[in-house]
Amino acid sequence: MTSRILSVTGRQIWDSRGRPTVEAEVVLESGALGRAIAPAGASRGAHEAIDLRDGGEAFGGFGVNRAVAGIAAEIAPALIGMDAREQAAIDAALCELDGTANKARLGANAIVAVSLAVLHAAADHAREPLWRYLAGGRKVRLPLPEIQIFGGGAHAGRRTDVQDFMVMCPKAGTFRRALEITADVYRAAGRLMEARGPLSGVADEGGWWPDFASNEDALDVLTKAIEASGHRAGEDVWISLDIAANELGDAAGYTLALDDRRLSGGEMAGRIVEWCNRYPILSIEDPAGQDDWDSVGAVTAAVGNRVQIIGDDVLVTNAARVERAAAGNVVNAALIKVNQVGTVTEAKAALDAALAQGWGAIVSARSGESEDVAIAHLSTGWDAGQLKVGSFTRSERMAKWNEVLRIEEAMGADAVYAGASAFAAPIREALA
Ligand code: PGA
Ligand code: ZN
Repeated sequence: MTSRILSVTGRQIWDSRGRPTVEAEVVLESGALGRAIAPAGASRGAHEAIDLRDGGEAFGGFGVNRAVAGIAAEIAPALIGMDAREQAAIDAALCELDGTANKARLGANAIVAVSLAVLHAAADHAREPLWRYLAGGRKVRLPLPEIQIFGGGAHAGRRTDVQDFMVMCPKAGTFRRALEITADVYRAAGRLMEARGPLSGVADEGGWWPDFASNEDALDVLTKAIEASGHRAGEDVWISLDIAANELGDAAGYTLALDDRRLSGGEMAGRIVEWCNRYPILSIEDPAGQDDWDSVGAVTAAVGNRVQIIGDDVLVTNAARVERAAAGNVVNAALIKVNQVGTVTEAKAALDAALAQGWGAIVSARSGESEDVAIAHLSTGWDAGQLKVGSFTRSERMAKWNEVLRIEEAMGADAVYAGASAFAAPIREALA
């Protein structure tokens, strides 16, 4: 039986924030099945592909009935009969059918769900787990996880300006061990927060609610949590921050509301460099706004030889922006979110462009997620080297970490943890 597409269906289901989202299902003539759920961001870049939402009163306007209707009316008829193994042709057909530069007509939420469902169906047809299908016989590494301890910014009522306070364990030796160390840090951070006052729960991605007097207070507590966990800050466990500075301003100026400060782009870059000098920081994402490449590049010029500087909203998983950023030495790593660009093929192109530059690459979840674990397979099968999922609670996050554990077990003696090898060369060498 062939790998031609027999049916494509969409449905409205619910994401981890209790908002509607799109699930797509693709069945092949062989009976193989693929299913995928679109995630959704809260701190989105202006250059991202755009979700199609119903608007109006119901569910805060977040309904996806129009996106689901487009799958039935237009996407299914266009894809039926195509070969699911021809991902590039499928994705080109989806882009052409949509006809807009940012997928606004059919919606990136409909398109990404279908694109990923096709990929899953092709792997199922090959009777392989997705990571192995993508690896295609190449030896691939298990990703270095980047795990949130405190969630702030747009994911926590802007209680801190910095969005993600995370940890990384590049020297853990195995993926399994990296999770164990992180579990210690997460619990130690919880105890410290409890001692400081009443806990008010967790933020959108499961990190502790950030009840801090300043952004630096959060960095101090995170460093203390690492030490209190029995591990060593800057030797076993490092800090990784997503500033998500796009949410704080642009080249005209940034507002650190918690610190009562208004900063120019240059001052913002200076503040971040200062943090890198004071704290055991190994990675910084979006230190300035999506189009303020001068300030992002200033951070990279100052500390990029020992700190990973990641472009998220700065690059929006767009290969052309990766090439331009590389020409200007703006960053040394790219965040890869399939829904930010809309199709598997375009996301892979952005990843390949980043890896070709010798950059780090981090396959990433969104703040609105689900039980879909595809990114565990993408980060491993594509050999991206790093994976960002959110925190160490909430099952839409744990499902991904747990899936990588299963992949690690399936690899058996062949399992290799990316660890420090996931970084661009100078950082790798600084860690050695
Ligand atoms: P988002 O946040 O999914 O809300 O955009 C994740 C990130 O900024 O990395
Ligand atoms: Zn980000």
